[in-house]
This record gives sequence, C-alpha cells and structure tokens, in this order.
Amino acid sequence: MRHLLSIADLGADELHRVLDLAEEFSEVQSRDVPKVPALRGRTVVLAFFEDSTRTRTSFDLAARRLSADVVNFSAGSSSLAKGESLRDTVETISAMGIDAIVVRHGSSGVPQQITSWTDAAVVNAGDGWHQHPTQALLDAFTIRRHFGDLDGRRIALCGDIQHSRVARSNIDAFTRLGAEVVLVAPRTLLPPDLEGWPVKVEPDLDAVLPDVDVAYFLRIQNERMGRGLLPSNREYRASYGLTVERAKQMRPDALIMHPGPMNRGVEVDPEVADDPRSVVLDQVTHGVPVRMAVLFSVLGPGQFDQEPPVDQETKARQEPQAGEEG
Ligand code: NCD
Repeated sequence: MRHLLSIADLGADELHRVLDLAEEFSEVQSRDVPKVPALRGRTVVLAFFEDSTRTRTSFDLAARRLSADVVNFSAGSSSLAKGESLRDTVETISAMGIDAIVVRHGSSGVPQQITSWTDAAVVNAGDGWHQHPTQALLDAFTIRRHFGDLDGRRIALCGDIQHSRVARSNIDAFTRLGAEVVLVAPRTLLPPDLEGWPVKVEPDLDAVLPDVDVAYFLRIQNERMGRGLLPSNREYRASYGLTVERAKQMRPDALIMHPGPMNRGVEVDPEVADDPRSVVLDQVTHGVPVRMAVLFSVLGPGQFDQEPPVDQETKARQEPQAGEEG
C-alpha cells in the first residue's frame, strides 16, 4: 500500500494485516515508554484543512509513538489565508523533504489530488462525504476486539448516512470483513441512490435494535446539510435517537458506537452514552494503534513484507545493553 485514500486501497489480506499490526502496536501503548523506533528519521505532516479533535490528536500521537518527526500544518494560520493555492501549498511543504502527509479536507477527492503533487505517502484523514478509512479501521478493530471477528455480525448504521464519510468507509470495511450492515435513517438522510451498496435499509430503529450486535450512531452533520432535511432535533431523537428506553431493547452483549463528536441528547441520550455497552472511548483509544499501523504500513521498511518492529524492540529491551548493569 503506497497511500491510504479509501478502504478500497487495502487488498483482502491487507485489511486483516493492518488490524493485526494494530493489535501489536496496542501492546506498545501499555508500556511505560509507549514508543518504538520504527519510523525514526521519517517526517509526517498533518495537514488539516477542516476541524478535528480526535483524528488529528491520534495521528499526532501515533506518529510520535513510532518516533517520526511530526509537523502540524493549520490551514487558518498558513499562506492559504493569503490566497496561496492548495497545489502550491502542498508542493511547498513537500519541497522541505517529507515522507507522509495526512490530509483532512472538506472536499471529496482532495487527498487523491494531492498524490499527484507530492512524492510523499498520502493518508486520508477524512475528505468531504467521501471516505474516512482510518475511522473505519479503528471501528472494525473495536468490534473485532469485542467479538473476535466481524464475520456474520449484524451492524446497524443509524443516522445521517447521506453526509457521512464515516458511513461510506465503514460500510466498505464492515462488509468486506463479513458483517451484514443495515442502514436506519430518515429518507432525507439516505443517499438518493443506494444501487450497488451492499446494505439493507430498515426505516424502523425499534425493529432493528433487539437483534443487532452493534448499533452505530452517526452525527447529524448540520454543517454539511441543506436546510429542511430534518424537522427538529427533538423529532429526530424521537424516531432515530438511542434513548434510554430504546437501549433497553438491545442485547446485553451488544455494542453502542459513535465516531464522535457526539450530539448528546440527539443521536444518543446522555445516560446511554455512558452505558456499559458504549465503547465510544474505546474507539478513541484504538485510534492510536490503528493509525500507527497505517503509518507503518505506508512508510515502514519493506511495508507489509517486514516483521513489525515491535518484537525486535521488545527483544532489545530485554537484552542487557552495553554499559548497562545486570
Ligand atoms: C467524523 C468526521 O470528522 O468525519 N469524526 C471523526 O473523525 N471522529 C465524524 C463526524 O464529524 O461526524
């Protein structure tokens, strides 16, 4: 894998291998010094042209835990604000000698476009409504951690599907890993044409909840939708929100997921967000090792052909170093 622009960039084996690699990197997270030298000497630029809390922080931590140098680029404080074009901006950053660029942008297709302006590996951290592949990977990782694998699992994706890059990436990843995906949304928040989407549609959340393994709620993306698609937050909650009453219909071992940022009291009631079945914070935790696995996969020596460096590092820590006592 040279770039990660969408889930489709991962071959059948690669999808599993990234998740396995993330498993190894999550062991690194639990160490006193949660760091390995895998990407020492490499430079990763985080170029976020759109707001982000978790994705940006977790890519930043992931790169640092692999010992890469990290440069944060913010659109608002750059020469873009003086009218410099996106292409000139990318070529300028690239000319400083970088190895990877992690891009978030409000327009679909920008990460793909950037691949033609730089030799660096490009990782998509969310583009428009199009794709958010690392979110899908960390969600798949979270489900796999809980159930062992996704094969045969029934997953409801509920909410604003139309404006959601998370929905598009997650449908690809979940179904490729063998899960069945059911979309639950008002007609106005579904894409007009679902031809070719490997999903079922069920308008009634109450009919779906009792037999799902995962109920995944998407944010109402007010900033991306035109007016008039939703009557009101209160009515939305009444039909599509995970209320305390509705959550009672879910199985005790089922999972409640949300990519964040969450509108508490709209998609999910505040009490339900803290329900023991909610793995919202686990999703955030898993973002770091999953993004380590992605950065290592696009930049690591020999990419997937090499043993992950975790074992070598563990070995090195166990062997007494020259000059060390004992
Ligand atoms: C998502 C995003 O920005 O695409 N958030 C995230 O990355 N965790 C989902 C959203 O904004 O609703």
